[in-house]
Formats: sequence, C-alpha cells, structure tokens
Amino acid sequence: MSAAASIRIEAINSPQAFEEFARLPYQVYADREAWWPPDIRNEVDLLSGRTLTAPYLDLQPFCAWSGVRLVARVSAVINRRYISHWGQQLGQLIHFEAAAGEDAAVGAMLTRAMEWLARGKMESVRSGFAAFLDYPYAIDNYGSLPSFLLRGNPEYYHRYLKDAGFETEKGQIDYTAALTPEALARYARMVEAARAGGVAVMSWREYGFLAAVDAWTEVTNAAFVRHWGWNPITRDEVRPMMGPLHGTAVGDLSMVAVARREVVGVVFSVPDLSPALAQVRPGVKLHPERGGGTRGALINIGVLERARGRGVALAMAARSFMTMARNRMRYAGYTLVLDDNWPSRRTAMALGARATGNFVTYRRAL
Ligand SMILES: CC(C)(COP(=O)(O)OP(=O)(O)OC[C@H]1O[C@@H](n2cnc3c(N)ncnc32)[C@H](O)[C@@H]1OP(=O)(O)O)[C@@H](O)C(=O)NCCC(=O)NCCS
Repeated sequence: MSAAASIRIEAINSPQAFEEFARLPYQVYADREAWWPPDIRNEVDLLSGRTLTAPYLDLQPFCAWSGVRLVARVSAVINRRYISHWGQQLGQLIHFEAAAGEDAAVGAMLTRAMEWLARGKMESVRSGFAAFLDYPYAIDNYGSLPSFLLRGNPEYYHRYLKDAGFETEKGQIDYTAALTPEALARYARMVEAARAGGVAVMSWREYGFLAAVDAWTEVTNAAFVRHWGWNPITRDEVRPMMGPLHGTAVGDLSMVAVARREVVGVVFSVPDLSPALAQVRPGVKLHPERGGGTRGALINIGVLERARGRGVALAMAARSFMTMARNRMRYAGYTLVLDDNWPSRRTAMALGARATGNFVTYRRAL
C-alpha cells in the first residue's frame, strides 16, 4: 500500500473519537521532560458542544490517520461572536497538533478543514489565537516547559502551516520579571504613586471575589474592544471559569484598580501552577524562572481608556508581583503581548521584565 493510500482524514463526531482527539498531545509530547497536559474533560465538552460558548460556535474537529495511527488533529471553528464584532468572515483553526514526518497527512487534513470553513463562507483563516480557545505557536525555547497556557509546540509545526499556505500574521512576546529586592522597592513606589493619584489597588479577595470576576469581564470587554484577536465575552461564561478559583491564591494575586468607587482596571494573575498541573519527569528540576513553585504569572491586564497613562497598569501589576514575592515566587510572567502593543510592552519594561519567549499567529486567505 502506498503512503498516500494509507492516509485517512475524517470529520469526527463520536464521543470515542473526541476522546482520542483530546489525547493526541500525550503522543506528540511523550518524550518531553516537562509539559502541560490537556484538560481532556474540558476539551471533550467543547467538541461535544456542551459548553456555555457553544451557541456562538460552529465547530468541526478533523483527524488524520496514517494506517491505524492517529497522527494529526485540528478543529475548524466559525466563531459568530468574532465575526459580528469585527465584521470579517474569518474562520479559525484551533487545537492543531501533529506527529513529526507526516507532511502528506497533515496537509490533507488542513486542506479538508479549510474547505469546511470556505463552505461556511469564511474568506480567511487564522491559526494560533482565538480568545479562550487557542494560543500562538512557539518560535523558540523548543523542548522546555512553556509558560502556563502557552504552547510548547515542536518546531516542525511551522513547516506544516507554511506548506498549507499560512503567513505570519502577528508576533507575540512572553515577558518575565525577576522579583529582586530592587524591583520590589520600585513596585511599592508604583502602588504608592497611584494611591496618591486617587487610585486604590485592591486584590480580588479584598474587593469581593465574585464582584471582582464580574468587574474583570466588564473592564476586559471595554479595554480590549479594539484589541486584535479579541471577541466580547459574557459574565455567564466567565463566572463558572473563574468562580471556582475563589479561595485559591488567584484571589490574592489578581487585582482591581478603583478610582472614585469605580473599577477602572483589572489584572488576572495565577500562582505557579506547574507543581499541580504540569507533567514533569521524575528527577527533572525545572529552572526556577520556568516553574517548580517559583514562577507566578500575570495573564491579563486591562485599563479603561479614560484612566490610561496614569500608572494604573503599573500599580496593579506591581502589587500582584509584590504578592507573588510574599508567596515565595521569585519570577513573574507577563503573558502575552502583541509585538505591536507598545503600551503593554512599555508596561512590561517599566516593571523590569524582559522578553523570554516568542510566538506567532498564522493567517491565510481561503
Ligand atoms: C496596556 C494597558 C493595560 C496600559 O495601561 P495604563 O494604565 O495606561 O499604563 P500605565 O499608565 O501604567 O503605563 C505603563 C507604561 O506604559 C507607558 N504607556 C502607557 N500608555 C502608553 C501609550 N499609549 N504609548 C506609549 N506608552 C504608553 C507609560 O508611559 C508607562 O511607561 P513608563 O513608566 O516607561 O513611562 C492599557 O493600555 C490597556 O488596557 N490596553 C488595552 C488592553 C491591552 O492591550 N492589554 C494588554 C494586553 S497584553
């Protein structure tokens, strides 16, 4: 049998196939010393249309088999919320994972998925970023544990995507700040400067965790309204995602900024989740900058337009980082900034962070 004859591409629709799809990363990343395994239940729920976002999404997962072996997967998504927000017929390819040396199978699978999007009247396709659904492709640090939520894909993914006609659409940066005594002293001054200007920075726990979750949704929607790649989200979908974090360190590390009794800025931060969630081979010790209990991360920051340029972002990030340091973290991630988002890059730099990881999102016309 020729190699081409043994390739099979399928649009999958059964619970067993969804499970096999969700487990593919266990093959691709099997020889890694440290990686973030997928949340299988969550992914199967999404593929089955059993999430609160289901009403906004047409989603079709595809798999490629070479003989009896599953070698690649991708989900084609028509995200109606994105399309109405931006007025663009842009489809998305999320969940892309593939074994090495399977160029023909991967190419055929991507073609099938793009045909599905074109039939759904999409005019172009993006892979590597969709709010809450997909994250960009790493272009460095291959083989090492990526920051929480980010991909640690093998380098050959870029060849697969470029052979399928994709171009780099955006670059993204993951920053890291060392929480040194000098940095912490500077952070204390940033919080104080904001306070003197009438802005109080409070942790989500101090503000009231569930009220802070709703404030996060509102301020994030407003702050990101013109931010590339974003689509609006609802309180109903965010509450079950963030509500269960009540009582965890997230409540102490995440911040709101309050001016004249109104929330004008929000930060969502997490402690080092690698001890709980990463799969680390026994005997392997992570570099303290990457994990093992010493790397916290600021995942998201937004300030209402009218409150910008007054040090609100700096003060929220500073207080989050100071709390990380009190909880024995030595590094803080500032994750993930578009190459052309200078207000955010300048915020990262003013916090003393440096670029420690680079990523790209791809796009092509259909
Ligand atoms: C990025 C963002 C959070 C910054 O908030 P902010 O409260 O205005 O920031 P600050 O006032 O604390 O300023 C932080 C630094 O950025 C600089 N800065 C702020 N806005 C800037 C702008 N428009 N252009 C250039 N520099 C800017 C400040 O001067 C300061 O640097 P400095 O101390 O070296 O002078 C805000 O612009 C925002 O919400 N943007 C939309 C959402 C977003 O992009 N979030 C980040 C995603 S990674």
